[in-house]
Amino acid sequence: MKSKKIKVFAPATVSNVGPGFDLMGFAIHGIGDEIELSISKNNFIQIKKIIGDNNRLPYDTNKNTATVSILSLFKSHQIKVGLDIIIRKKMGIGSGLGSSSASAVAGVFAVDKLLGLNLPKQELLSHALAGELIASKSIHADNIAPCLYGGFILIRSYNPIDIVQIDFPKNLFCSILYPEIEIKTSEARKILDKKVDRSVAISQAGNASALIVGLIKKDFQLISRSMEDFIAEPKRAVLIPCYNEVRNAALNSGALNCNISGSGPSMFSFSTSEKDALRIVSAMKTAAFKKGIKSKTFVSMINDDGPSVIK
Ligand code: HSE
Repeated sequence: MKSKKIKVFAPATVSNVGPGFDLMGFAIHGIGDEIELSISKNNFIQIKKIIGDNNRLPYDTNKNTATVSILSLFKSHQIKVGLDIIIRKKMGIGSGLGSSSASAVAGVFAVDKLLGLNLPKQELLSHALAGELIASKSIHADNIAPCLYGGFILIRSYNPIDIVQIDFPKNLFCSILYPEIEIKTSEARKILDKKVDRSVAISQAGNASALIVGLIKKDFQLISRSMEDFIAEPKRAVLIPCYNEVRNAALNSGALNCNISGSGPSMFSFSTSEKDALRIVSAMKTAAFKKGIKSKTFVSMINDDGPSVIK
């Protein structure tokens, strides 16, 4: 039998997006995960190779995010197909840019295409979430959903899951600084309060609602005013040694905001042109460097496409 293969790419994502803790995220261009699946003669799935992870990710199919997601899908559809898998990490692990989600989404998206299942995205999402749970030890869809759907996503509800795609200004540019330190999402969640005061809930809801309105109305000043998180960022800033310096540098360079991406350490800023975004990211990098922290930088528009087949 001629082997049947597929290769897909799933993008990195920025989640939380200021006031949208666990509720908002968007996909970016350029970085993410590639996964290659080949149907094998065995009746089990096997990770043959993981590239670009510095030997950090598990080959055990019950522990790897990509294969846990695939196994969840196989179990619910009683599929018994042997697969050989190659994973290429084209982004940092523990970067706050949705590394585990990119693997999980790449896995289920690739299986869906390879086997011609045509499953609804909402179902792929539920299996990808099973993979994310293994990596971050919590169910949050604010990386998985934008990675799978593309664009800017709001999770209106988790039970039942309700994903809303939000329109956004096409000239919204994102400058991303990835300081080369690692923060585990599971650890960054442990330091958060289990409950919030009513005044915090009100401030957060105000900003989150206004951010969505700002995006839809293309009101950049409203977006800028709304980009304050009262729940996670005040607790997590201490995990990023260059947080204050990077934030000040971005804001002084004209950025609309500067916030932690996901659970960090990456930080991101919005602006309205590529030229501004490049200037801002360079100021962010210099500020981190002055604190003795090496970093990678990216400039991207919001990626409307989500995952794609590349071979
Ligand atoms: N919303 C999640 C968190 C994203 O902040 O913990 C993790 O990438």
